[in-house]
Amino acid sequence: MSKQQRGKLVVGNWKMHGRLAANTALLQAVAQGADELPADVRVGVCVPSLYVAQAQSLLEGSPVVWGVQDVSAFTHGAYTGEVAAPMVTDFGATLAIVGHSERRAYHRESAELVAVKTQRALEAGLTPIVCVGETLEEREGGLTERVVGAQLDEVLAKLSAQEAARLVVAYEPVWAIGTGKSASAEQAQAVHAFLRARLAAEGAADVPLLYGGSVKPDNAEELFRQLDIDGGLIGGASLKAQDFLAICKAAAATSVAG
Ligand code: 13P
Repeated sequence: MSKQQRGKLVVGNWKMHGRLAANTALLQAVAQGADELPADVRVGVCVPSLYVAQAQSLLEGSPVVWGVQDVSAFTHGAYTGEVAAPMVTDFGATLAIVGHSERRAYHRESAELVAVKTQRALEAGLTPIVCVGETLEEREGGLTERVVGAQLDEVLAKLSAQEAARLVVAYEPVWAIGTGKSASAEQAQAVHAFLRARLAAEGAADVPLLYGGSVKPDNAEELFRQLDIDGGLIGGASLKAQDFLAICKAAAATSVAG
């Protein structure tokens, strides 16, 4: 499949931001803006799990899909505070971010745990957005491919080719997240090409590869023009409807219809 045929996917990761009233305004604005995008640009939002019902009520019938930022490694049981993937699908959600670097760092999530969470998401019918990325120290030590390759391999090892084909993978260099310092388009493309080759070896060459890390309206288009960048996972800029929709429009400008 060619880059054009894959289309574009732009997903907002709200992280731990938002309250009921502000969410309403943001979700309504995103739904309205998404209506005007070409069909080959898909838009999603991953909200704090508590607000997934609100996302459902405001986004149902719109082209915007919604989901959560994590799922439990278990389907049910005595796991206080956890949210299971089947609970998430009860609210019409279709996306679940897994293995975000903030969870790997602050919640000590291992590559193994991320792989199990990916399996739980797939079993429930969710599309897992599996995040990989290196720290600045790892990049400067020339370890980028080794680190992101190992993170991806741990997940792929647990999946069949059919399951792997249902993933979305997000490359998010840790040093670019929330810093205002995005990877350059060349740096991002190089890692995406590496990830694409790894996925192709597992029969999953068409998995959408998103770039995340300080994507803003002014750098999105250049990033999205790269051969192996199929869209973005957007943090800070997804909290402002105008910025998020400008990024979606940048995706449209690089898509077939755009
Ligand atoms: P920022 O866009 O705020 O850098 O966050 C990126 C990110 O972590 C998305 O998951």
